[in-house]
Amino acid sequence: MDSFEFNKIAGGVLGTLLFVMGLGIFSDSLFSRSHSEKPGYALPAEEVHAAATAAAPAGEPLPVLLAKADPKKGESNAKVCTTCHNLAKDGAPKATGPNLYGVVERAVASTGYAYSDAIKAKGGNWSYEALNQFITNPKGYIAGTKMGYGGEKDPAKRADIIAFLRSLADTPAPLPAK
Ligand code: HEC
Repeated sequence: MDSFEFNKIAGGVLGTLLFVMGLGIFSDSLFSRSHSEKPGYALPAEEVHAAATAAAPAGEPLPVLLAKADPKKGESNAKVCTTCHNLAKDGAPKATGPNLYGVVERAVASTGYAYSDAIKAKGGNWSYEALNQFITNPKGYIAGTKMGYGGEKDPAKRADIIAFLRSLADTPAPLPAK
């Protein structure tokens, strides 16, 4: 084998080596590309979905419900209230609860009734929103109240009751703006 032939063979081997190395680098780059493009988990997307479900709309707002509420239906739904409350103008409080005539926008715990300390500490007025929350779940709204009533969970029935309470006044308070 003369030196010229050796150079040809060596050159061929070197060329092949270079080609294989090049192929290796090329395929590496292909694989690492496809790795970084597709992460193997989808947790963030699921979290976003869960948050969206939790924030589902809670139904129609109170002013909209009050605008279409029926005080007559409210009167019959409020029968349960009269077992503890007197609703008559200038009526005496019952032993079981304060008089509710004119209660809309009245100061909380402001009549001649032996209120619990819990409701006396509440402060503020009986706004439509406050009444709505109290009637939904009395003990949830004022922990420690002695109003022994479980609450009305149906928003439309509550709006009917509040519309009826509103009618128990010389001049009913204006309805809240929609
Ligand atoms: C089992 C008896 C009972 C029933 C039924 C009941 N209440 Fe009461 N309610 C009370 C008592 C007792 C209080 C006083 C709460 C306190 O002192 O913590 C009260 C307080 C209230 C107050 C606050 C009045 C104020 O002067 O601050 C409102 C408003 C009210 N009730 C509305 C209602 C409505 C509306 C219903 C019917 C859906 C109802 N209650 C059913 C016993 C009752």
